[in-house]
Amino acid sequence: MLRGTKVGLRARHDEDIPVLRTELYDDVVNGSRAESAAWRPITPGSKDPRLFVDDTEPGRVPFSVVALEGGTLLGTATLWGIDNHSRSAHIGLGLLPACRGQGYGTDVVAVLCHYGFVVRGLHRLQIETLADNHAMLRSAERNGFVREGVLRSSAWVMGEFLDEVLLGLLAQEWKPKA
Ligand SMILES: CC(C)(COP(=O)(O)OP(=O)(O)OC[C@H]1O[C@@H](n2cnc3c(N)ncnc32)[C@H](O)[C@@H]1OP(=O)(O)O)[C@@H](O)C(=O)NCCC(=O)NCCS
Repeated sequence: MLRGTKVGLRARHDEDIPVLRTELYDDVVNGSRAESAAWRPITPGSKDPRLFVDDTEPGRVPFSVVALEGGTLLGTATLWGIDNHSRSAHIGLGLLPACRGQGYGTDVVAVLCHYGFVVRGLHRLQIETLADNHAMLRSAERNGFVREGVLRSSAWVMGEFLDEVLLGLLAQEWKPKA
C-alpha cells in the first residue's frame, strides 16, 4: 500500500465495489462532472471499468483510497494515460461525499505524485478539471501543480458547456512532503 499522511492507496477490494457504485457512480451530477462522457448507470455484477480493475491494462492504475487510521474506504484514485515514451501520465480522484473537505484530496494528490515520479519514474503529471472545481484546483496547487491553460467550453455537463483547467507538474518541480 502507498501511504500519505492521512490516506493509503491500495488495490480495489470486492467489498469496495457496492460502496463506490452507490455513493460515487450512481450520483448523476457527480458522475457527469467527473467523467468526460455521459452518465450511465452501472449494473450490479457488471464488469464496468469504472469499478472493476483490469490488472493487465498497462496504461491505467486504479487504487482505492482508505483512511490510514481505521482503514475505512474514502474513494478512488487513478494514474491513467501512462505514456512510457514521453514519461507522462494523468491523475484523477473521487472521494465519497462524506469524506470531502477534510484534507484527504490534497494528500491523495501527494501520494499519486510519489507513485508517478518515484515508483514509475515519470517526468510529467497532468490534471484536467472543471474550472469551478475549486477543491480539485486547490488540492493540485497545494502539491505544486501549475495552471497551464484553460480549455474553453470543453466539457458538456448537465445541460451546459463548462471550461476545464489543465494543470501540470514536472518531476524537477515536485517537492515531496517530508
Ligand atoms: C476534488 C476532491 C478530490 C478534493 O478533495 P477534498 O478532500 O475535498 O479537498 P481538501 O479537503 O484536500 O481541500 C483542498 C483545498 O480545497 C479547499 N476546498 C475544499 N472543498 C472546497 C469547496 N467545496 N469549495 C472551495 N474550496 C474547497 C480546501 O479549503 C483546501 O484549500 P486550502 O488548502 O487552501 O485549505 C473532492 O472534493 C472530490 O472528490 N470531489 C468530487 C469528485 C471530483 O471533483 N473529482 C475531481 C475530478 S477532476
